[in-house]
Amino acid sequence: MFFLAGSRMRRAREFAMNHKTSFLFSLGEEGGTAPFFLAPVAGYSDAAFRAVCAELGAALCYTEMVSAEALIRGHAKTKKLLVRDPVERQYAVQLFGANPATMAKAAEIVSAYGPVLIDLNCGCPVPKIIRAGAGSALLRTPERIGEIVRAMRGATSVPISVKLRTGWDQNSINYPDTASAAIEAGARAITLHGRTRAQGYSGKADWEAIRTLAGQSPVPVFGSGDVFSAQDAISMLRTTDCDGVMIARGAIGNPFIFSELRALAGQTDAERAGEPLSPRIIARTAARHLGLAIRYLGERTACIEFRKHFCAYTKGFAGGAALRAHAVRCSTLKEYEALFKKFEDIADSSTSVEAASNDLKRANRA
Ligand SMILES: Cc1cc2nc3c(=O)[nH]c(=O)nc-3n(C[C@H](O)[C@H](O)[C@H](O)COP(=O)(O)O)c2cc1C
Repeated sequence: MFFLAGSRMRRAREFAMNHKTSFLFSLGEEGGTAPFFLAPVAGYSDAAFRAVCAELGAALCYTEMVSAEALIRGHAKTKKLLVRDPVERQYAVQLFGANPATMAKAAEIVSAYGPVLIDLNCGCPVPKIIRAGAGSALLRTPERIGEIVRAMRGATSVPISVKLRTGWDQNSINYPDTASAAIEAGARAITLHGRTRAQGYSGKADWEAIRTLAGQSPVPVFGSGDVFSAQDAISMLRTTDCDGVMIARGAIGNPFIFSELRALAGQTDAERAGEPLSPRIIARTAARHLGLAIRYLGERTACIEFRKHFCAYTKGFAGGAALRAHAVRCSTLKEYEALFKKFEDIADSSTSVEAASNDLKRANRA
C-alpha cells in the first residue's frame, strides 16, 4: 500500500497546507520559523542538555525514550526522565512500548507534565526492546502502530506523533505503510529516520525517502539522519522539503549547532551572533550544562554522567585528549572546574595543553 493516491492525495494536500502550518505554529513561533529540533537521544537528551539546547535556540527538544510500562508502574527513576527545566519552555515526550492499553495509560500520565507532543518510538533497534515487541519491532506490524496511536489519542488531547525508520531491513522498506497507518489513526506528525533497523546508526541515511514522505504526507514530516552540522540541517530542509529537522549525534558536544542555525536564519541577537565559538564559550556552556545536571541528578551522578559530555565538548581540540584523560575520572564539581579552567586557557595562552595537563596532575596529587 502506498498512501494517498489520486483525488485523495489532492484533498489531503489542500488540507495539509493549513493543517501543517497551524501545527507548526502550535509549536510556537520558533517552531514555525526555525524548525530545528533536538532528537530523542537515550542517555543524552535529559533535562540539563535539553535546557542548554533550548537556550541556544532549539525550537523543540525531545526527551529520551521513556518506558510506558515503567511509567505506569510508578518507577521513580523513569518519572525523573520527564522533568523539564523552566528555561525549556516546551518539550516533546517520547514513549516506547507495545501494548495499546499501556501506551494509553502512559500518555495520560505524561500529559500532566504539559508536553506539546507525545511521540511513539518505532525506531529503537536494541534487541531487548525489540524482543518486547516495542521500538523498531513495530515496523513489522503497521496495524499495531495504528492501534497504539488510536489508544494514545483516546487518552489525551496532546497531539501524538510517531518516529519511524524506513523499514526493518533493506528488503522490507515500508515507511509509506507505517506512516499511513499512523496518520490514519490520527498521528499529527511523523519523523522519519532515513535508516532501516538493520542499519542501526551506520551507513548513509536515505534522505530521498524523507523527501518522498514529505511530498505525500498530509501531516508535518520531520527528517532525521546524518545531520552533523548546521549546513547539513539546512541542506536536509532544502533537499527533502521536510517540515522540521531533528538533530541527534550532531548536537552532542555541539549544542551550538542550534545557535549557528539561528544565526543563519538571522534570528540571533547581535551580541551572541558576534561571538565566535571558542574554547572559552564551550567551557562556559559545558559548565552551565554540568550545573543544571547537578541540580537534577545530584553532584556525584551528574559528574559521572557528564564525563561523556565533557569528552564530546572537547573533541577535536588540540590537547583535548589530555583533558579527557582527566575527565574520565572526575566525580566532583571541583575537579571539573579545574578542567573547565584549563580548557578556557587553551584560548588565552600559548601554554601547551601538555603543560596544562601536568599542572592538573600536580594539583590532583596535592
Ligand atoms: C546514543 C543514541 C541514542 C538514541 N536514542 C533514541 C531514543 O531514545 N529515541 C529515538 O527515537 N531515537 C533515538 N536515537 C536515534 C536518533 O534520534 C536519530 O534518529 C538517529 O541518531 C539519526 O540521526 P543522526 O544520524 O543525525 O544521529 C538515538 C541515537 C543515538 C546515537
